[in-house]
Parts: sequence; structure tokens; C-alpha cells
Amino acid sequence: MEKLIVHGGAPLKGRINISGSKNSSLPILAATLLTKDTCTIRRVPDLSDTNYMVRILGELGAEVERASGVVVVKAEKIKSVAPYDLVRKMRASICVLGPLTGRLKKCQVSLPGGCVIGDRPVDLHLKGLEALGAQVTVDGGDISVNAKKGFKGGQMNLMGKHGSTVLGTDNVMMAAVLAKGTTIIEGAAAEPEVEDLANFLIKMGAKIQGAGTNRIVIEGVKELHGAEHTVIPDRIEAGTFLVAGAMLGDGVTLKRVMPEHMKSVTDAMIKCGFPLEITKDSITVRPNPNAKGFDLTTLCYPGFPTDMQAQFCALACVINDSSSITETIFPQRFMHAAEMKRMGANIEIQNATARIRGGAKLKGAPVMASDLRASAALVLAGLVAEGSTEIKRLYHIDRGYEHLDDKLAALGARVERAQDRS
Ligand code: EPU
Repeated sequence: MEKLIVHGGAPLKGRINISGSKNSSLPILAATLLTKDTCTIRRVPDLSDTNYMVRILGELGAEVERASGVVVVKAEKIKSVAPYDLVRKMRASICVLGPLTGRLKKCQVSLPGGCVIGDRPVDLHLKGLEALGAQVTVDGGDISVNAKKGFKGGQMNLMGKHGSTVLGTDNVMMAAVLAKGTTIIEGAAAEPEVEDLANFLIKMGAKIQGAGTNRIVIEGVKELHGAEHTVIPDRIEAGTFLVAGAMLGDGVTLKRVMPEHMKSVTDAMIKCGFPLEITKDSITVRPNPNAKGFDLTTLCYPGFPTDMQAQFCALACVINDSSSITETIFPQRFMHAAEMKRMGANIEIQNATARIRGGAKLKGAPVMASDLRASAALVLAGLVAEGSTEIKRLYHIDRGYEHLDDKLAALGARVERAQDRS
């Protein structure tokens, strides 16, 4: 296993390019299963999660080629069964459910297991598929979906008690594009990644209106054809580097971003007093020693993203003020707090709220990565800490940040990857 060693205190300065979005790439790659034709997806980030999705497509029978960010898929003949061994490593594997049923009218996909950030049920995905006329059973850890006569358009509401579901909306949308008639998804997730998937499906010949809002209307078509698509920039990777640039250094510029997807994050930083320069495709950030604390609540898009909560906990540590952040999407997603406390952070978790008293000097320590964004927060804390921080279980970061160590090093950070033999 690898670990990341971060030697704290090196100022950050310079420019980096933001990669394509992980959370767009995964469902878009799955959507290529909806056609026999060739699909070309560009700007797919080089991550273990996208590699894993490429492997799943291959195991399901598709021919897949991947070279420097471009993935070409031809899914002429595909299987309808995705067994546990194939899908267990990545929760997002669940997004093959929609395209497999859409194309083959039946499928069996193993239920994804638990996850450190929360329970992560799939009841809303299944409710949506049932509303399209499918028979859905869950037995022996497998989801079986059967729509012998094909899907029929239907109406449903995908709003759950923690908000709408991103991958659930993706799955239902991918099943509904080949259904007979009109499907109306109320309470749909409005995240930019859902809109990006819809844009790809539209290029494949699908008829979708309203993606990017909470009401999506899909007019089913007989078949889809091949298409080319470039995935949107990763707003969470961008947000993470934005926080790094606010924490220390002398100006970090993010290039190839879509600032309109990051408004809740940039607004929060501006409110704290961090100077941002925003153009149509770049953002520059600088630290501010007089920045003020924040009180934030994670919400569905366009609210403040849960995927930025851990990084803002790290940011709060360098603000000489009190901050709080309440998690409404995954109320138990605070694994980073205990590790950051080992570095000297003053964080208290009460129910689903983290209260952070900033200004305490952080000290490097060996810490354990628990999930993707928690790990990113530990890297951020390590960048400002005195001494060295060893972040174990680096594979969590490699799931979702393309070449994080190289990008940080390009900005002047002192980071090294090493084997962890402990
Ligand atoms: N939920 C249900 N029932 C369902 C599905 C979800 O109750 O059937 C609940 C979840 O338990 C959670 C809330 O609804 O409380 C939102 O979950 P959602 O389904 O939207 O999460 P997801 O689609 O599985 C995606 C991202 C996550 C991100 C969430 C929320 C991908 C591959 N994953 O997950 O990204 O946190 O949306 O925005 O798109 C990450 O990148 O680190 C990450 C975890």
C-alpha cells in the first residue's frame, strides 16, 4: 500500500489545469452500454475509479480502448449480469443498472455494499425503475430488474429524506431514454454531472428536457447511436485546490474550470474574505490572514456540496475564528475530524454539525485516509502543518484526484509518495 508524505509549510503558487469530472465520467461511461455503436469520451480523468468502470464495461462484453484521457467504447454485444465480484469495489458501479435494463430489458446487478460515508441505500433507484414498469426484486445481495415487454414511460418523484439522488436520477434517465412514451422525473438531482450525462445522451439521440433542474422530461426513442463527448471539469477537484490556495501561498490559479458550477463554493470563500479572481474558465485564489469564519450547510446542487465539506473543515482550521458546517446529505460523513484532531485541530462534532475553532497551529502526524474527500482534507491540513504528515491508504485519493501529488508539487508543495510497510 502507498502513503503520501506531506512536508508542511511550503507556499503554493502557480497554475494548474483541472481534470475532467470523475462523477460525470462514471455514468457517461456506463451510458455507452446503451448503443451498439462506437462512443468516444474525452477528458476522462486517469483515476482508479474510471479504470474500474472501464474494466466493468469490458467484463460486460464491450470493446474498450483507453489512451490519454480518451476512452473509446463499442458495446456491440453485452451481458446482462454484473456479479458481486465485478461491482463490489466501487459503489458507483450501480450506474450500469439503468443502461443494462434500458438496452436488454432485464439485468442482474449486485447490490453495492456499505460505505464509510453513510448507509447509501438504492431504494430510490429501484422505485424509479418500478415506475417505468419494471419488476424489481432484491434477493441474495442481487438486484434483478425485469421489463419483459420493455420499459414504459412513467412518472415518479426521486426526492428522498436527504435530498434527491444523483446516481438514482442518472439510472432512471438512462433506462427511460429507450422506454415507450414519456417519463417525468420530479425531485430529480440537478447536479451539473446529471446535466452532463443528459447532454451525452442527447448526442446519442435521446430526447431529454430539463436536465440540470428538478424536473426532467424524457421522450423515449427506439434506439440510440454512437456519439462523442467531452466531460465537464471536476468542480470538486477544483474546489479542493481552491481551498489549498486559500490556506497558504501567494496565488493559485485553476485553469479549465466552469466557475458557474462552483458558485456555492466560491460565494462561501468570498464571504469569508478570500480574494478570488474569476474569469469564464479560471479562478485565482489568495490567502487572507484576516478571513472570517463561516456557517455552512451541505445541500443538493446548487447548494454547498457534501463533497467539499471535509476540505472546508481543513480551511476552517487556518481561519482565526469559529466556523461550523452541518452535513445534511451524509450526516455521518465526519471521518476526517478525528484524524485532523490528531494533528491539533480543534473540531467538535455534535449530531451532524462540525464546530471548528480555527487558528490552532497544526502539527504533522501519521493519519489514516478513510474516504476520498476525507483524505483530501488530510492532505490540505498537512500542507499547512508544522513538520511532516503521513497519509496512509493513499488509494482513497487515487480513486478521485488525478495525479494529486504531481499537481501539488507543480504548485510548490513538498509531497512524496512512498510505500507503506507498516
Ligand atoms: N439516498 C437514498 N436512497 C437512494 C439513493 C440515495 O436514501 O436510493 C440518499 C443517500 O443515502 C444520501 C442522499 O440520498 O443521503 C444522496 O445520495 P446520492 O444518491 O445523491 O449519492 P450518489 O449518487 O450515490 C453521488 C456522488 C457522491 C456525492 C453524492 C451527493 C458519484 C459517483 N457519486 O453519489 O460523490 O457525494 O452524489 O452529491 O457521482 C465523491 O465523489 O466523493 C462522492 C461520494
